[in-house]
Amino acid sequence: MSDHMKYNIDLMQTPPEEDTARQYYYIEKAKKYVQKESEEAGRPLTACITTFGCQMNARDSEKLRGILLDIGYMEAPEDEADFVIFNTCTVRENANTRVYGRLGQLKPHKKKNSHMKIGLCGCMMQEPEVIEKLKKSYSFVDLVFGTHNIYKFAELICQRYESGKMVVDIWKDTDKIVEDLPNKRKYSFKSGINIMFGCNNFCSYCIVPYVRGRERSRKPEDIIREIERLVSDGVTEVMLLGQNVNSYGKTLDEPISFAQLLQKIQKIEGLKRIRFMTSHPKDLSDELIDVMATSKKICKHLHLPVQSGSTEILKKMNRHYTKESYLELVEKLRAKVPDISLTTDIIVGFPGETEEDFEETLDVVRKVRYDSAFTFIYSKRTGTPAAKMENQVPADVVKKRFDRLLHEVQSIAAEVCAVHEGTTQEVLIESVSDHDSTMVTGRMSNNLLVHLKGEASMIGSYVNAHLTECKGFYYLGELAE
Ligand code: SAH
Ligand code: SF4
Ligand code: F3S
Repeated sequence: MSDHMKYNIDLMQTPPEEDTARQYYYIEKAKKYVQKESEEAGRPLTACITTFGCQMNARDSEKLRGILLDIGYMEAPEDEADFVIFNTCTVRENANTRVYGRLGQLKPHKKKNSHMKIGLCGCMMQEPEVIEKLKKSYSFVDLVFGTHNIYKFAELICQRYESGKMVVDIWKDTDKIVEDLPNKRKYSFKSGINIMFGCNNFCSYCIVPYVRGRERSRKPEDIIREIERLVSDGVTEVMLLGQNVNSYGKTLDEPISFAQLLQKIQKIEGLKRIRFMTSHPKDLSDELIDVMATSKKICKHLHLPVQSGSTEILKKMNRHYTKESYLELVEKLRAKVPDISLTTDIIVGFPGETEEDFEETLDVVRKVRYDSAFTFIYSKRTGTPAAKMENQVPADVVKKRFDRLLHEVQSIAAEVCAVHEGTTQEVLIESVSDHDSTMVTGRMSNNLLVHLKGEASMIGSYVNAHLTECKGFYYLGELAE
C-alpha cells in the first residue's frame, strides 16, 4: 500500500482559513500521522534539527522544534534520528557545500530505515538553482521549504504523508508574520526574539535580502507580549533579532523607533538583560546611544559590523558610511557608554580591494580595538551586484591578507579583554563547562565568558564572579562573596 493510501486522516472538518488556527489544525492532524507511523514502527519516532548560519536560523529552528515535539517526535542525535532537518544558510559558498556533503551521507541511512524523512529549509532553499539541483540529484529528500513559510511546517508534514511524494513549497517573498505558534527554546533562561524579518539594505556582496525578503517589523505589542510570556516562563535575558535592528519600526502603520521599542521592553518586570543584533552603523541613532547609556538592562555590548575600513570599498559595498563616520560613531558611543564592548564583522578580498584598502581595514581594527571580530573571506554570491564586479582579488592574495587581519584582531582582542582582570562582574550562568564537569560557564554583560567552580543547579542564576585570570577570549574566575 502506498503511503498516500495508508495516510489519509480526515479530521472531520475543513482546515480554518486564519493562519494560526490553521496551523494548530495541522499540528493535530500531523500528530495522528506520527502516532500511526510510530505504532507501525513499534517505537517512538525521533527527529533532529541541524542549524547552519545565524541567530535568525537558530530562532527559526526553535519554532520547528516546537512543532516537531508537539506532533509527537522525540529528539535524538542526527545519526539516530528518523526525521533529519537541515536549516540551511547560504551567506557564503562553503555553507552550501557543507549541506550537500551532509545530504550525501544521509542517503544510505534512508535506504536502511523505512521511517526516515529528510527535510531541508532555510535560506539556501530560496535559491532556484538549489531547488533544481535537489529535484535532479537528491530526490530522496522528503520536504523542502523556505524562509517565508516555516510556520507551515505541520501542514507540509501532512502533505508529505498524504501525497507520498517529495513536497516542495518555496515562496518568493511574503508580507505575512504569523504569531503565536509553538516553539521550544534551547535555553530555559534566555531566548532570541525576532523583532523584524528580512532586509532592505542590499549590501552589494550579500545574498540575505534575496533569501529573506523585504524588511518587515513585528508590532511592538506582539513583541512585548512574547517577552512577557517568556519572562513568566523563566527567561531573564533576551536577544532581539533582526538583520538591521536600527531600522526597526519604520514601516509599521504606527512607526516607532528601535530606541523607543527598547524603552518599552526594559519596563518589563523580571527581565534582567537585553541584547540585540545586528546594528547597521548607518542607522545607529543618538537616541539609541542615549538609551544604552542610561539603561540598567541593556547589555554593555554592541556588535557593529564595519565590513571594511576603506571608504572606497564601503561605497562599492553599498554600506552608506565612510571610514571617518564609522570611527566618529565609535567615539561617540565610547564617550557616552564608556565600558561598552564592541565587536564586528569584516570581509577581506571584496572585488577591487587593494593593499591600501586592506591597510585601511587594519587601521580601523587598531583604532577601534574590538573585543572580538568575525573575519570572513569574500565569497561570490550569484545574483548579487558584487558577483559581476571586475577585479575579483586572487585567492592567494586574499588568504595572506586574511591571516594578517586575524593575527591583528586576535592580539588586540587578547589585550582588550584582559582589562577586566581583577574586577568582580555579574555573570549569568549558562552551562556546565564542556571540558570540566566541576566548572560552569557564565556570561558577563559585555558578552565575555567566565569559567568558575560550580554545578548544574546554578544554571540560569546570576552570580558575582571575581575575574582571576584572563585567558585571551575568556576568564577564569571564582564566586565572589
Ligand atoms: N545583517 C548583518 C549581517 C548578516 S550576514 C549586518 O549587516 O551586519 C553576517 C556577516 O556575513 C556579514 O556581516 C558579513 O560580514 C558576512 N558576509 C555576508 N555576505 C558575505 C559574502 N558574500 N562573503 C563573505 N562574507 C559575507
Ligand atoms: Fe546583508 Fe547588508 Fe542586509 Fe546585513 S544589512 S543582511 S550585510 S544586505
Ligand atoms: Fe545565513 Fe540566512 Fe542567516 S543566509 S547568515 S542563515 S539570514
